[in-house]
Amino acid sequence: MNYPLHMDIHPEVTAFFDAGTNTISYVVRDPGSTACAVIDSVMDIDMAAGRITHDGADRMIGFIEAQGYDLEWLIETHVHADHLSAAPYIQEKLGGKIGIGEKILLVQDTFGKIFNEGTEFQRDGSQFDRLFTDGDSYTIGGMPIFTIYTPGHTPACMTHVIGDAAFVGDTLFMPDGGSARADFPGGDAGQLYDSIQKILALPEEMRLFMCHDYGPNGRDIQWETTVGAEKRDNIHVGGGKTREEFVRFRTERDATLSMPRLILPSLQVNMRAGEVPRDKDGRPMLKLPINSL
Ligand SMILES: [Fe+2]
Repeated sequence: MNYPLHMDIHPEVTAFFDAGTNTISYVVRDPGSTACAVIDSVMDIDMAAGRITHDGADRMIGFIEAQGYDLEWLIETHVHADHLSAAPYIQEKLGGKIGIGEKILLVQDTFGKIFNEGTEFQRDGSQFDRLFTDGDSYTIGGMPIFTIYTPGHTPACMTHVIGDAAFVGDTLFMPDGGSARADFPGGDAGQLYDSIQKILALPEEMRLFMCHDYGPNGRDIQWETTVGAEKRDNIHVGGGKTREEFVRFRTERDATLSMPRLILPSLQVNMRAGEVPRDKDGRPMLKLPINSL
């Protein structure tokens, strides 16, 4: 694959771990300026109380303000099914544009039906400021970025490559964590394998940043590895595992998994770019569709 690589650019990456959902959010800064981006932010929800708070997002905002950075982008690697995005909350405080893969339209169509949304829910991605296509490009300050379409976990997954750092969303986990599930509506294990191969075709020394880590076998939480380490050691795809082996394993494993605790609120909010839906009187309100997943 002929990627427009810039391995000589080393963005400064600061990670924020959300223990409630095992999500890692990032602030990525252009070392040549004050420009930065936020990747995969988290908004907190207490499901029992229906209470939304912003402690995690406030930590990121405080960091960006203290460093004197300028926020240019709020990137979602995909429509997350296990946590709510805080992108609009952060955008309101710090500005920046919210971007996601253009296949968000497929996710909006699928889940628009599941949540029986009316015509006021637009399925055209217009809730976002930018929809990225495969091989798209944009900048953070002086850093050029390119995107790789990496579906399989969801239909809208994109990997963002910023200098020598790639943000892979939920395509890969750390080598001892393997890969993410591919059984959500619109997911596909074969597609996920093909997407992972696109990432493994990047240079071996490329830094890879995960969206999740669950500390398998009791190890401490980690979020950074390399293409070379994943190729060698990833327990699901490393060592040259074939597509057939991966699809069989992934399909069998996924059949044993229960739905993520926050999937229903997450999708309703995240398919709206992080906005909480409102009822006919304008009050923030979430639905609980019964036996729909
Ligand atoms: Fe995900």
